[in-house]
Amino acid sequence: MSNSELILSIRNLTVKYRSRRGYVNALRNINLDIYRNEAIGIVGESGSGKTTLALAIIRQLPNNARIVSGSIIFYNDGNKVDLLTMNYNEFRHYLWEKIAFVPQGAMNSLNPVLKIRDHFIETVKAHNPDASKEEIVRKAREVLKITLLDPDRVLNSYPHQLSGGMKQRVMISLALILNPAVIIMDEPTSSLDVVSQKIILQNLKDIMRMFNVTMIIITHDMGVVAEVANRVVVMYAGKIMEVGDVESIFYNPLHPYTQGLLKAVPKLRGETELYSIPGEPPDLVNPPSGCSFHPRCPFAMDMCTINEPSLKEVNKGHLVACFKYET
Ligand SMILES: Nc1ncnc2c1ncn2[C@@H]1O[C@H](COP(=O)(O)OP(=O)(O)OP(=O)(O)O)[C@@H](O)[C@H]1O
Ligand SMILES: [Mg+2]
Repeated sequence: MSNSELILSIRNLTVKYRSRRGYVNALRNINLDIYRNEAIGIVGESGSGKTTLALAIIRQLPNNARIVSGSIIFYNDGNKVDLLTMNYNEFRHYLWEKIAFVPQGAMNSLNPVLKIRDHFIETVKAHNPDASKEEIVRKAREVLKITLLDPDRVLNSYPHQLSGGMKQRVMISLALILNPAVIIMDEPTSSLDVVSQKIILQNLKDIMRMFNVTMIIITHDMGVVAEVANRVVVMYAGKIMEVGDVESIFYNPLHPYTQGLLKAVPKLRGETELYSIPGEPPDLVNPPSGCSFHPRCPFAMDMCTINEPSLKEVNKGHLVACFKYET
């Protein structure tokens, strides 16, 4: 990466959910630095805490969530602010204007009784009441073109008149219209057909090129990561297991969990049977002792059942939490 200016710095972030069965340990001591203008992929099986991490950054965790500890520093034009402790009224200006979020299943969150044009107008007016409708529509046309949508058709449509893939691209355009510094996308391609997926991945690459924007792409799909990310974070059971640039993760995966995830990527042709990591992700109300992956790990040693490995740098910029690499 040419630029290594920090934009977000997450420290010791621990989040629990209250549930009938007890506390769900959704995020456990997350430490992560994110740099300006990078595309970082966050991968992990269902329930690993990916969405919780995104919701913590944008302060939209549900009511039964509790941030037990941690800070999320945002580097804002030379100033450092802690997103978690700043006054919520002030934070509201960060949402969309600095940090935009495209939620999981975003395409279903468009208001069915509003034309797409009005979604753009409402979004911009909420942050900039003086903006003129003409100016908003002009900008909306620009961002729609980037997502390869026909502005004339789309602006005058109601959500139900668009396909799932088109709605998802509308959501990405809405996230771009206020020129945020960071855009977080939660499963931007899941539940779409293969053609729509391809278009969106291409769009994301174009957006990277055309905007100065930091992208955080959450996905369970290593293929999506390979396509758009330059750095990868691998999560398991609420912890970060491995972080590295995309080449290191794909060509030299260190964590046995990452190795398993990569084996589970469907090949384009040939392979008939898809590998999946044996076993199930753990119950986060009662996570396993020691390394939370040890019950599924082919390399587990005695110490892995007792002690928890911490994230350590093994090669430059390549970090892993695994005792195999601590000797
Ligand atoms: N509102 C909630 N109340 C209680 N537990 C929750 C809540 N939301 C999530 N969880 C639990 O927290 C853990 C992390 O969930 P999260 O949604 O962050 O995972 P994820 O990695 O985004 O999964 P997926 O790939 O399925 O979207 C899971 O064990 C989940 O069951
Ligand atoms: Mg999720």
